[in-house]
Amino acid sequence: MTTRIIPVESFDIVVFGATGDLAQRKLIPALFHRDEQGQLPNEARIIGTSRRDMSHDEFRAFATTALETYVEATYRTPEMMQKFLNRLTYVAAEASKEDGWPKLEEALAPFPDRIRVFYLAVGPDLFGPICERLGNHKLVNANSRAVVEKPLGKSGESAQALNDAIGKVFAEPMIYRIDHYLGKETVQNLMALRFANALFEPLWSADHIDHVQITVAETLGVESRAGYYDTSGALRDMVQNHILQLLCLVAMEPPSSIEADAVRDEKLKVLKSLKPLSAVELDSHVVRGQYRSGATGDTAVKGYLEELGNPDSKTETFVAIKAEIASWRWNHVPFYLRTGKRLAERVSEITVQFKPVPHNIFRKSAGPLPPNRLVIRLQPDEGVKLWLSVKEPGPGGLRFKHVPLDMSFAEAFSTRQPEAYERLLMDVVRGNQTLFMRRDEVAAAWKFIDPILDHWKESTDTPKPYTSGTWGPTASIALIERDGRTWFEGEET
Ligand code: BG6
Repeated sequence: MTTRIIPVESFDIVVFGATGDLAQRKLIPALFHRDEQGQLPNEARIIGTSRRDMSHDEFRAFATTALETYVEATYRTPEMMQKFLNRLTYVAAEASKEDGWPKLEEALAPFPDRIRVFYLAVGPDLFGPICERLGNHKLVNANSRAVVEKPLGKSGESAQALNDAIGKVFAEPMIYRIDHYLGKETVQNLMALRFANALFEPLWSADHIDHVQITVAETLGVESRAGYYDTSGALRDMVQNHILQLLCLVAMEPPSSIEADAVRDEKLKVLKSLKPLSAVELDSHVVRGQYRSGATGDTAVKGYLEELGNPDSKTETFVAIKAEIASWRWNHVPFYLRTGKRLAERVSEITVQFKPVPHNIFRKSAGPLPPNRLVIRLQPDEGVKLWLSVKEPGPGGLRFKHVPLDMSFAEAFSTRQPEAYERLLMDVVRGNQTLFMRRDEVAAAWKFIDPILDHWKESTDTPKPYTSGTWGPTASIALIERDGRTWFEGEET
């Protein structure tokens, strides 16, 4: 299969935090891949910025290491490396001081009307100061875009303050709030599955769906990110953004078009329809956990508190929530959400469990008829499985077997699956906001999350411990089994 590459218009991208982890692991490799695929016009420039003093060549050396570490050797031909590195320049500038800003002005001056992407790969405390200086130095032209990463605040209130600070300089259509989950191939495939096929939509409601599970499980611990993570926790780090965005894509009404605001209007409606959890439900419908020592595979691993070096931390590394959407379509359909670090397997998937057949016409000897299930696997092994009951082949009476109709994307399409950041960066250049969160979506997501955080703050309870390498605290199993259902894991997915 060949991929279709549509080159984007010329642009300058200024990466603030250019010597940081995100730039090194994701942004530089993503831009490189788009370049080697022929999507970047010859004139496109990448300007790295950070407070560190560095020459252009030192920045190119930094980028070379990033590419050698994060891009497969087959793509790194000497010509390609040279072509890409030639696009790179570096300007040292202080986010919250004037130092270096005239240099940045100079760097951008030759192309005053070109698309300008300001990528703020820095902590949120610097969003305001950087935007203010971009404004003061008149660097924001009509074709500018600001890209910001989570955490977009620690609560609804702080998110509003951040959005206000960015909004003083950039109008909403210029702001791209990245949720990298929306750039994942299979997440986009979820929209394709729902809205490019007539098959599922008539079944997509409380009439036919029993419940939905969304699992984002990681085997990694927090390791070097413990400092950041301890101020965040799984609820802010994963649920407020990635998991609620996935829930929106599963639950939203068909938008009238794929235009950014048509899609975002529908997602917003879902977020606004999330049933607020009552005082009792804040305990019964939400489980938080924290990993203890254990093993991932054969390797023994430390517990969260040892990794952090603080025995008193109450930060959760696991959350499970039973959420409901107050709407005709989803009346009484639970959405079971869970995410955690140091779990048994690295797997992200969405499972839609349909209702059982209304009446079983077969003999008992045929065996049970488990309900149909649609599994959308985001990672690893991206693909879609539809579980069906079929007759076991051969004589000996009718017996059923539950088997998946299995479409692995790697097998079906033998191309490299692009990283989320590749698509998202090109969407920013193209000015397509469909896969980015609008301000009101962020606010609505916080409205669901804030009461949980407030409740935890007031509570004397601590997160339930779980052994590394398991599926989280037993309370999470109880959360779903209480309703006569189970989490799907391993062979069943
Ligand atoms: C990030 C979180 O947004 O997503 C990390 O901050 C998490 O804690 C990561 O590990 C997971 O992303 P992916 O693409 O590896 O599933």
